Amino acid sequence: MTRIFVPIDSTALSLDAEEVAEALAQGLQRKGAQAEIVRNGSRGLFWLEPLVEVETPAGRVGYGPVTPADVPGLLAANFLEGGEHPLRLGLVEEIPYLKRQQRLTFARCGIVDPLSLSDYEAHGGYRGLAKALTLEPAAIVEAVTVSGLRGRGGAGFPTGIKWKTVLGAASDQKYIVCNADEGDSGTFADRLLLEGDPFVLIEGMTIAGVAVGATQGFVYIRSEYPHSFRTFKQAVQIARDEGKLGRRILGSPHDFDIEVRLGAGAYICGEETSLLESLEGKRGVIRFKPPLPALQGLFGKPTVVNNLITLATVPFILSEGAETYRDFGMGRSRGTLPVQLAGNVKYGGLVELAFGVTLDTLINDFGGGTRSGRPLRAVQIGGPLGAYLPASLLGLPMDYEALAAKRGMLGHGGMVLFDDSVDMARQARFAMEFCALESCGKCTPCRIGSTRGVEVLDRIIAGRDPDKQTALLRDLCEVMTDGSLCALGGLTPLPVLSALEHFPEDFKRPVPAAAE
Ligand SMILES: Cc1cc2nc3c(=O)[nH]c(=O)nc-3n(C[C@H](O)[C@H](O)[C@H](O)COP(=O)(O)O)c2cc1C
Ligand code: SF4
Repeated sequence: MTRIFVPIDSTALSLDAEEVAEALAQGLQRKGAQAEIVRNGSRGLFWLEPLVEVETPAGRVGYGPVTPADVPGLLAANFLEGGEHPLRLGLVEEIPYLKRQQRLTFARCGIVDPLSLSDYEAHGGYRGLAKALTLEPAAIVEAVTVSGLRGRGGAGFPTGIKWKTVLGAASDQKYIVCNADEGDSGTFADRLLLEGDPFVLIEGMTIAGVAVGATQGFVYIRSEYPHSFRTFKQAVQIARDEGKLGRRILGSPHDFDIEVRLGAGAYICGEETSLLESLEGKRGVIRFKPPLPALQGLFGKPTVVNNLITLATVPFILSEGAETYRDFGMGRSRGTLPVQLAGNVKYGGLVELAFGVTLDTLINDFGGGTRSGRPLRAVQIGGPLGAYLPASLLGLPMDYEALAAKRGMLGHGGMVLFDDSVDMARQARFAMEFCALESCGKCTPCRIGSTRGVEVLDRIIAGRDPDKQTALLRDLCEVMTDGSLCALGGLTPLPVLSALEHFPEDFKRPVPAAAE
């Protein structure tokens, strides 16, 4: 029977994918046509959503973006056999945006039915865990170390080292915590996987559990992702019913289960120690480090806290080999990075490529430049704490160290584009205001400093004594950088100072008439 794929992820649903699926079901019934409608995840090519695909002998043919009103015309155009239609995109795998990617972590996303375990296994799923179960725990950790995998949550910390610390900690109970709080602006990679390939996370967490000796996992999903939460909970239940979670997984001596939690709705709850507080039922406030969560984490027990993409990459490393993964990338940034293009961009979506790809390739070749068509002025990389880089730095390769050398950071791989209408002094103010709103309040440089920072920037924007106020702003940024307890206060100066460095003209406002 012909299979038609209609995405069921939040992006497609917000663009009427449910109505499209219903119209298709009714149209097929009226025609008496035999076809199965499969609800897949998103391929991450958002401007084409809902992207409807039809399985043909040549491959999957895409049509998009499809509205419910397009359905009768598609059926009349014989789209069940890949017929011609103005919305026809040809073979989906041949769409350059997709074809030019190197999808390792997202290999199955948009292809499989997210809630079909058999589909997951038919596409290579559970091969990584099967391999892990043949290895000693230390050998699993070694494979992750050799792969060069670094945390995709923001700090880029080597995953193998973190796992080794937890493996070496003696305890009656250890935990694996998946950070799916995805608070960075312009990011959606975690969500795409939760809704498009949830079993890869379950498999990755199980491998982590086997590797370090943890029997319980928690997934902390941001509260703004109710659809991801529902989908992932269903996937966990399916995995449990099929013996992939629970006692003696896959017939091995290992137990591992997962509990899914909805986040508390604060940016700071994405920081690992606040997240642990929140998981324990307390307010999301930063804990002092040391002790490291790897030694005293959830409920005081040794805990691996990893970002969702980090954990979801582990099955590939185990099944395809650490060297295969390590062969992608540049310098100390190994493997691939799922970049998320957002903001004022023509072709927004997910682009997974080996580290080393330039900003220019990502923004212009993939993103097609700004959606407004005006010249690109700035791109903020790495969320609200990331630097604003000017268009003159588009040659920069995406690599942790290369970005750090330009006083930037990769964060979770989100890129937010701005055209030449942006006011960078206001963006700097936004960074300070964001910090003031999201500060957990534990330390003074962040709690008070960010509020004073907003006031100073208000004076700069109003053109009041700009030189003195700019000097004051720099001073304040130094105090926040050096004196904050965590990276929220410590990194807020990054976007502020980058705006000052690269766009100084925006901070020299005309002096108000009354002051002349
Ligand atoms: C203010 C703040 C917010 C953060 N938000 C997130 C987040 O939403 N998701 C995430 O994975 N890491 C976030 N992090 C990073 C985590 O603290 C931690 O480094 C990460 O979960 C570790 O996993 P990884 O090594 O796999 O990156 C945040 C850090 C800070 C300082
Ligand atoms: S820097 Fe801000 S968020 Fe971090 S501990 Fe201090 S007050 Fe809390």
